[in-house]
Amino acid sequence: MKRREFVKLSGVAAASTVMLSPMLQSCMDNMNMNMNMGSNAVAVKEGTFTTPLAFPNVMTSNFSMKAKGNTASLLNNQSASVFGYADGMLGPTIKVDTGTTVSMAFQNLLSEDTNIHWHGLLVPADMDGHPKNVINSGGSFDFSLPINQRAGTYWYHPHPHGKTARQVFTGLAGFFIANDAEELALNLPSGDRELLLVIQDKRIENGQLNYSPSMNEIMTGYTGEYVLVNGTYAPFHNVSTQYYRMRILNGSTARVYNISLSDNLGFEVIGSDGGLLSQPVSVNSLLLGPGERADILVSFKNLAVGKEVYLLSKTFDGGAQGQQEFKIMKFTVNQQVSDSFSTPSQLSVVTPLAEASASKTRSMKIKGMMEGMNMNGGGMGSGMHTINDKIYDLNRIDETINAGATEIWDFDNSEGDEIHPMHIHGVQFQILSRTGGRGTLIASERGWKDTVLVMPREKVRIIMTFPQDKGVYVFHCHNLEHEDDGMMLNYEIV
Ligand code: C2O
Ligand code: CU
Ligand code: CU
Repeated sequence: MKRREFVKLSGVAAASTVMLSPMLQSCMDNMNMNMNMGSNAVAVKEGTFTTPLAFPNVMTSNFSMKAKGNTASLLNNQSASVFGYADGMLGPTIKVDTGTTVSMAFQNLLSEDTNIHWHGLLVPADMDGHPKNVINSGGSFDFSLPINQRAGTYWYHPHPHGKTARQVFTGLAGFFIANDAEELALNLPSGDRELLLVIQDKRIENGQLNYSPSMNEIMTGYTGEYVLVNGTYAPFHNVSTQYYRMRILNGSTARVYNISLSDNLGFEVIGSDGGLLSQPVSVNSLLLGPGERADILVSFKNLAVGKEVYLLSKTFDGGAQGQQEFKIMKFTVNQQVSDSFSTPSQLSVVTPLAEASASKTRSMKIKGMMEGMNMNGGGMGSGMHTINDKIYDLNRIDETINAGATEIWDFDNSEGDEIHPMHIHGVQFQILSRTGGRGTLIASERGWKDTVLVMPREKVRIIMTFPQDKGVYVFHCHNLEHEDDGMMLNYEIV
C-alpha cells in the first residue's frame, strides 16, 4: 500500500468507509493500539545470576576478523545459532594506542551481505562502513583505520541498510578501545579491575534467538525478555574490595537502561562516548540509550566479603520502556584487598566549542510513526520514521557540509512520543542544551558524544566540527529498528 492511501485510511472516518483487507485491518488495529504509547517493551525476566561473566578475547595486533555463523549456549545449555566475529557471539575487544593505524583484514563468511562500521571512530568515509559499501557473502575487505582521536570506548558493528538490527541482535558487535598516554597517567583501575560490559536484550524462544519484529515493534523498537552481558544471560562476577572501572556499552537494538547499583550505591561517571570527562561526576543512576557508552568507577571498598551488589536498570520517565526495574548482573565481593586509589579530581580537558564559531545551524525534525505520516513514499512496515520528513535513500545526499566546518544541529523530537538515540558518523559532538522533556543534561553529556538520547518532547542542540576527510557519511537513529526502517540520512563533506 502506498503511504498516501494509508494516510487517508488512517483517518478514523475515512477508514470506516473503505473495505479493508484482513491484513490491513489487523495492521490498523495494531497501530491504533499503539498510537499514544511511545514505547512498549517486553518485560525482562531476571535470572538466577549463577553463570560466570565471560569476556571476549582481546586483540592488540595482527588484526583480522571473520563474520560467521556460530553456535552458542544462551539459555539452559541449549545450543543456539548466532553470528560472531570469532567464536560464539560478539567479537574480540580491539585495543590500540591512539596515533597508530589499524590494518584489519575482514572476511564475510555469512550467507548474506554485511560490513563493519567503527562506531565513534573518526575514519575516512570509505572505511566507515557506509551502507552502500557492503561486503558480499564470501567476500573480504581490508580496513585501514587511522586512530587520530581521543582515547575512548568505541565499538564496531554491521551497517548494511535494512539488516543492521538483525545482524547486531544475532551477535555482531565488539568493543574498540583506544588508549593514550594522558589516560594512562591517571592510573585508573586496569587489568582485572577494568571491566568491559556490553548489555543487550534478546528475545529467545526454545533456546534460539528470535528476531521477528511486528509492525508495532518496528514502531517502538524490538525488546527482549533476556538481558545478556557480554553474551551471557544473568551473569555474576567476583570482585575484591577495590575500585573498578566499568566501561558499559548499550548494544541493544532499542532498549534504554537506567544504569544503577543495588542499595542505591553511587558511582562516578568519568567518561562518555568520546572519552574522559573533564571531572568525575557522582551519580546514583545514568540513562544509557542504544549505542551510547558510559565509563564509570565503582567502589566496592567499604563492602564486606560476601556482599552481593546488582547492576540494575531503574525505572525512568519515557513511556512504557521505563516502567520496570530489573537486575542485569551480580557482583559478589569475595576478597578483602586494600586499595589506595582515589579518583583524580581532574581527568582530562574538554574544551567547549563556542556557539559563535558555528557557521550554520541545521534543524533535524525527527518523527516517529504517528507524527511522520504527512509525506510520500514508503509502505506498511517501512519508512514510518523520518528525519526532516525523509526516509533513507542510499544515493541521495541530504546535507552538504564544508570540510572542517563547525555547525550546530537541533534534533527536534518536540512533537514526538518515541525515544530516539540520535547518532552521527564521522564526528564527536558536544551537547549545548536540552529543552522540553528532561530539560537538562546528564553527567555523561558533559563530555564528547556521538550518540544522544532524545526522549519524547525533547529538543537537543549539539555542536561539532566536521573532519577534513571528504566523503559521504550517515547519521541516524540508533534504535536499530528505526534505523532499518529508514530513519537515516546521508551527509557529504565537501
Ligand atoms: Cu553504531 Cu551508524 O552506528
Ligand atoms: Cu556510528
Ligand atoms: Cu528512533
